[in-house]
Amino acid sequence: MLKNRIIKNTPAVEPAYPRTRMRRLRQSDWIREMVAEHSVLASDLIWPVFVLEGKNAAEPIKSMPDVERRSIDLTIESLRRAYDDGIKVAALFPVVPVEKKNMDGKEALNPENLICRAIAEIKNALPGMGIIADVALDPYTTHGHDGLVEDGRVLNDETVDVLCQQSLTLARAGADIVAPSDMMDGRIGAIRDRLESEGFTDTIILSYAAKYASAFYGPFRDAVGSGAHLKGDKKTYQMAPANADEALREVALDIAEGADMVMVKPGLPYLDIISKIKENFGVPTLAYHVSGEYAMLKAAAAYGCLDFDLAALETMLAFKRAGASAILTYAAPEIAKSLQKKSS
Ligand code: PBG
Repeated sequence: MLKNRIIKNTPAVEPAYPRTRMRRLRQSDWIREMVAEHSVLASDLIWPVFVLEGKNAAEPIKSMPDVERRSIDLTIESLRRAYDDGIKVAALFPVVPVEKKNMDGKEALNPENLICRAIAEIKNALPGMGIIADVALDPYTTHGHDGLVEDGRVLNDETVDVLCQQSLTLARAGADIVAPSDMMDGRIGAIRDRLESEGFTDTIILSYAAKYASAFYGPFRDAVGSGAHLKGDKKTYQMAPANADEALREVALDIAEGADMVMVKPGLPYLDIISKIKENFGVPTLAYHVSGEYAMLKAAAAYGCLDFDLAALETMLAFKRAGASAILTYAAPEIAKSLQKKSS
């Protein structure tokens, strides 16, 4: 409030030109940096990675230049390099082999599944790294939906029950943060209660609270191989891009149900939502710079339209300015490198 009043009063206290020359504070790097209102650090960045079965295996992803699906051993190697550059948190997504997918996605509950093995091995190799595990059924279902499907409808309450078990499976494997990305109603409270009753009192819940039914997820669905399977769209559970008030209701519910942090997704097209959440709730609010946004920057750079490093850094700054506490981005390692270059 106070801050707002000062900003509103600014014209009255600011003497006119030439007493005020805004450019005085822009004349060189040192003064620009001194008065900078926001900054981007490597510790603001979370790296989403795609994990593959096998050993020493890596596959390019056509729609996501410079991103690879990697087997656990190679994932660990790349996470170690990123860690040394200051990236301290990773979000893991499994590339589930087709033969392990079925209608009800029950491979999600297998404690020996790919993601559980990845979590355990990464934690073992890099104990200081924070691990976020996605809670949703889409990598595991033959229909590509995040929940259970009956007669073409995605069931809510039945799905929530499975998601509670999935969260528990991930927490047992060693996930520090479980991140329900499914947008079912009531899942945060149910997951929180289940974790508490099983003794996982310190497991952090990052709710994808405002997740929109977006065209920007295309490359991700390519990457995990759920796109080709997806029947229909996700509009009965993900939010309509037209709505902002509804995002605040979602956040209010998720906080009341026990979410520790909330996420807005996609990122750049929804900066208004981030800043509204921050203003209204003051909870740690994360932004997901999603696959399509990453691909746009890479494609434009490859076309010679812009400088990737500069555009990526500016994008991260936009998230921080809007109020994001941290940003999930596929460009995290590249940005960490360019931050180092900048400061050396
Ligand atoms: C699914 C999930 C999606 C993403 C993260 N988790 C895609 C979807 O909802 O279809 C998208 C991330 C991205 O596009 O980078 N539970």
